[in-house]
Amino acid sequence: MELDPCCLCRSFVKVEGAVHEDGKGLSNWDVYCRIQGDKPEFLVFSVAQCFLDLILCSCLFIAVEFDFWRVLRFSGNIVDGTNGDIANDHYHRYMEDIEIMQSLGLTAYRFSISWSRVLPRGRHGGVNQAGINFYNSIIDNLLLRGIQPFVTIFHNEYPQELEDRFGGWLSPVMQEEFVHFSETCFKHFADRVQYWMTMNEPNLLAEAAYEKGRSPPARCSPPFGHCASGNSDVEPLVAVHNMLLAHARAAKLYHEQYKSKVNGVIGITVCAYMYIPLREIEDDTEAANRALAFNAAWMLDPLVFGDYPLEMKRYHGSELPSFSLEERELVRDSIDFIGINHYGTLYAKDCIHSSCICNDSTCTLGTDRPISGFVYTTGERNGVTIGEPTGMSEFFVVPKGMEGIVKYIKERYHNKPMFVTENGYSSPGNEDDIYGHDVKRIHYHQSYLASLAQAVRNGADVRGYFIWSFMDNFEWSNGYRLKFGIYRIDRQTLNRIPKLSATWYRDFLSNSSLAGVYLSSTVPDENKDVSMVHSE
Ligand code: FCB
Repeated sequence: MELDPCCLCRSFVKVEGAVHEDGKGLSNWDVYCRIQGDKPEFLVFSVAQCFLDLILCSCLFIAVEFDFWRVLRFSGNIVDGTNGDIANDHYHRYMEDIEIMQSLGLTAYRFSISWSRVLPRGRHGGVNQAGINFYNSIIDNLLLRGIQPFVTIFHNEYPQELEDRFGGWLSPVMQEEFVHFSETCFKHFADRVQYWMTMNEPNLLAEAAYEKGRSPPARCSPPFGHCASGNSDVEPLVAVHNMLLAHARAAKLYHEQYKSKVNGVIGITVCAYMYIPLREIEDDTEAANRALAFNAAWMLDPLVFGDYPLEMKRYHGSELPSFSLEERELVRDSIDFIGINHYGTLYAKDCIHSSCICNDSTCTLGTDRPISGFVYTTGERNGVTIGEPTGMSEFFVVPKGMEGIVKYIKERYHNKPMFVTENGYSSPGNEDDIYGHDVKRIHYHQSYLASLAQAVRNGADVRGYFIWSFMDNFEWSNGYRLKFGIYRIDRQTLNRIPKLSATWYRDFLSNSSLAGVYLSSTVPDENKDVSMVHSE
């Protein structure tokens, strides 16, 4: 089997727009974006929604009450005051987008399904047929052009009603909701979709939403942040526990009832930083190993071996939830492949034997707490950054890190098949992006691909590589300020404009220098197709 550097990805909140159209329900991100400092826009929005949907009314008022306090507390959730209401209007322009993908020569496209578009009220209401039709049309049109859909079921967004009713991922009830959502997707799409990911980066979601309070439901406690409520030492662990069990239940259902339809595979995507020791001492080598265990292995150990990493169990007390014997069986071996989202590498410093004071913009807070693994991570050593800075304060350009993280995952998980499901670059000042002369992005991908190719030559079973992202889009709390796309969007006309990197990628795909990198195959023969298409 060959590595296929074929692919682009995007998540729905970030490109679809049409948030009030065709029966889509109110999502956690729709609400979160509405909270604009002392302008309680959300109240207006909620009342308008109530007129539109009387059934939802009562729960929206609960949300109004809840959010009133958040309105008082926050000084703006999205840095540029924007939202995903229109985003890239992919909902109406998806045909044009698919044609662009075809013109680039893609063999796969990774996208997520909007939970609130398909099930506006979760299990408390019906399926929104317009949402199903939309994704059916995307899937059919991709396949018609020889592009494999890689579907992520959950990418950060869910119906707000699930938050208001029982607290979202902090409650085990969310597991049932997720299984219901997954089953709805399998029922409608598994006859054509071969590649499934249950979730995108549960580890990063837990950190952003429940440790740092920087994405909905924005919960945290000091020293990590100052939210109205939350417990940064405990809640990330609870949320991840529920997500892992939800994943496992959905994957079991898929394996038992849907896999055979097109002999598909199901995996998960994790946020996977690489960490290297800050100082050349044993303590920091251990700290780097701990950081890796508290990041990617937090998700992957349970899903491959059936339990949390020993490194985590050693430092956590009863706040780390435990799996019953039955749950261990359920989560163990519940992924067919590992999806790796890799952007950058950080230094790790031990905080058990050394004092750790956070004094630069990239370092971690709360290093005296188990939730941080007693590790201080930073992008700087003696005032020098680990690699070239990018638009994201924690992402530095360190191509070697790609080889490092793939090697780590290969060795820890006995070379389970992997896909690099995200890798991408945003420039610090956006100048390159505005003029479409994004040479640095091209260099980024070239050097990261070269590093990945090295890992593959050393035997890593990597099946594909996805660039983040197809188009500049709504980058969560960073709004439209951060740009990762190989296409730029004119925000007035919403026209898609290729950057230099789009031309480079098209040429690269038609003349792939990674062709001929053969890997051992453990995925069924039918699933080889996607990886073969571009590699001859
Ligand atoms: C990843 C997210 C993706 C995008 C990139 C920049 O963590 O999965 O949606 O925001 O970061």
